[in-house]
Amino acid sequence: MTIEVAVVYHSGYGHTAKQAEAVSKGAASVEGSKALLIPVDAVERHWDDLSRADAILFGAPTYMGSLSAPFKTFMDATSTLWFQRSWKDKIAAGFTNSAAQNGDKFSSLMQLATFAAQHGMIWVGLDLVPGNNSSTGGLDDLNRLGSMLGAMAQSNADQSAEFGPIASDLRTAEYLGRRVAEAALRWKGGGLAAPESVLG
Ligand SMILES: Cc1cc2nc3c(=O)[nH]c(=O)nc-3n(C[C@H](O)[C@H](O)[C@H](O)COP(=O)(O)O)c2cc1C
Repeated sequence: MTIEVAVVYHSGYGHTAKQAEAVSKGAASVEGSKALLIPVDAVERHWDDLSRADAILFGAPTYMGSLSAPFKTFMDATSTLWFQRSWKDKIAAGFTNSAAQNGDKFSSLMQLATFAAQHGMIWVGLDLVPGNNSSTGGLDDLNRLGSMLGAMAQSNADQSAEFGPIASDLRTAEYLGRRVAEAALRWKGGGLAAPESVLG
């Protein structure tokens, strides 16, 4: 069996693009899984790819404590698909990157999870226990920013995307991509047809 995983993302200055690439690399590393990176400014050419995808990962930088405006524009552009319930029962997950260690990134992941729920998608969180939270922990730990709703990354405000996000955040992103692809394979392979509608 094969599955397709789409990674839709926005990145103003390239940092979140690196996180998206790591997510995509993780998804593609699973046998039977194909990953496709879609920058939001190219989404018009990719609606069919999104319809076909078994799983979609959403990612954007956190700007002003919420998702960046271009990503929100993409979200609003999916309202027709919302009416058609086109993405119902697809697997979904999310990631975000910002300059501060906290930076209100949770707010962005909440928005992504709500967006996925609006579409009737199945949200996959990060099952990694928080890293860097003990006397033996450190910056190299997976999930060093301690998020379980999705993958977080941090990039210093005064450095280009050449230097950030740091390696452990990219490995965390890769882990999430792999987890989503594995979940999509299990979900698709279960052989259970989605019920037409519980309301008849
Ligand atoms: C308009 C704007 C708003 C921002 N707001 C936040 C914020 O609320 N929290 C934070 O930690 N960083 C904030 N930042 C910093 C970015 O999240 C950070 O530079 C990030 O790495 C940018 O990702 P990108 O290169 O993919 O655009 C903001 C940056 C911009 C341009």
